[in-house]
Amino acid sequence: MLKGKHIIVGVTGSIAAYKSAMLVRSLVKQGAEVKVIMTDTAKKFITPLTLATLSKNPVLVEFFDPENGQWNSHVSLGLWADLYLIAPATAASLSKMAYGVADNLLVTTYLSSRCPVFVAPAMDLDMFAHPSTQKSLEILRQRGVTIVEPAAGELASGLDGKGRMEEPEKIVEQVVKFFGRKATLAGKRVLITSGPTREPIDPVRYLTNDSSGKMATAIARQMAFRGAQVTVVSGPAAVKPEQKDIEVIDVITAEQMYQSTIEQYNKGADIVVLCAAVADYTPAKKSSVKMKKREDNLTIELLPTKDIAAEIGKIKRQGDILVGFALETDNETSNAQSKLERKNLDMIVLNSLRDPGAGFAGDTNKINIFFRNGDSESFPLKSKSAVAEDIVDNIEKLMSNAQ
Ligand code: C5P
Repeated sequence: MLKGKHIIVGVTGSIAAYKSAMLVRSLVKQGAEVKVIMTDTAKKFITPLTLATLSKNPVLVEFFDPENGQWNSHVSLGLWADLYLIAPATAASLSKMAYGVADNLLVTTYLSSRCPVFVAPAMDLDMFAHPSTQKSLEILRQRGVTIVEPAAGELASGLDGKGRMEEPEKIVEQVVKFFGRKATLAGKRVLITSGPTREPIDPVRYLTNDSSGKMATAIARQMAFRGAQVTVVSGPAAVKPEQKDIEVIDVITAEQMYQSTIEQYNKGADIVVLCAAVADYTPAKKSSVKMKKREDNLTIELLPTKDIAAEIGKIKRQGDILVGFALETDNETSNAQSKLERKNLDMIVLNSLRDPGAGFAGDTNKINIFFRNGDSESFPLKSKSAVAEDIVDNIEKLMSNAQ
């Protein structure tokens, strides 16, 4: 299953390091060529000899071989690998990766690698749940690193909870699935709008909304995972994709988002997904100085912004797929269906604020999809990454129907 694949297994200093022996053995059995990098502390948990024997390659720990001065090039290791799998990954190594603390060969190789990266965290439940660790994982996830979630159960500390490294056979399963994926969107160009916009009132105040950019980021990742060339036009969102294979164009206002999205569409895009929560109105005048507090009421005149979806709907090229989003609080279905028609969309994704767990800032969403031919499909509450898979599956279906 993994024949010819070059995999670097990074082993850090956790008691779960003993499981990396099984992991390496299993990867080699599947046909992969494996090189192991260990941190200094990892050597206290499992010997390099064990991992060198199982991987059939010398284990690398130092930047230089202390015996003969030979350089272990993190650059060529990073380029050699088709996958970098760090298992177990300790809290310390995860935070070093997140913040670029390149003080050992393992982290330095991560910074030099161009291949996909998987990490399988292993630690005590409180360490795993600590905001520092969660922040590091969030940063890595945002950069496109795949987190192999730890399992819940008995931990080496004697405590019970989430933090135990996933079993080697489950990790190998994920690796096999990853290499077995089909690049169903290879050669396709995808344009996605994301996040809120910010409409200035004066130099320090603005109108905006709570859009986090999480849904658009999950869709962008899923598209890139399937081989598409992805560009995201993002407003000032909390979350943006930060991975090498996704281009991000930053904008602030609805007008800038409009200009940038139309420009990108005119350069060519086969699929356009308009996920951004674009402001519908912008202040008619922006004060050049900070507005002073007054005793009487203040009225701000608002002008409508340009509708990006409607404009692309007008200039849409034959065969291109245009997908919109609708976040509704009432008359959900009829509002979504009328937007589909009015903006000449091929598909609209509805999330209702009435559904718990759906909408802006959270990590889950519950959607309904409506199509041009009147068909619709509802989905249960899922993580935003699973929702992104459903959305992209349906876009692919539309594309194959159009052929
Ligand atoms: O009409 P409404 O704003 O609810 O429509 C939502 C859909 O239209 C979303 O896909 C959103 O990204 C898009 N939209 C847009 N430009 C606007 C307003 C909304 O592209 N100015």
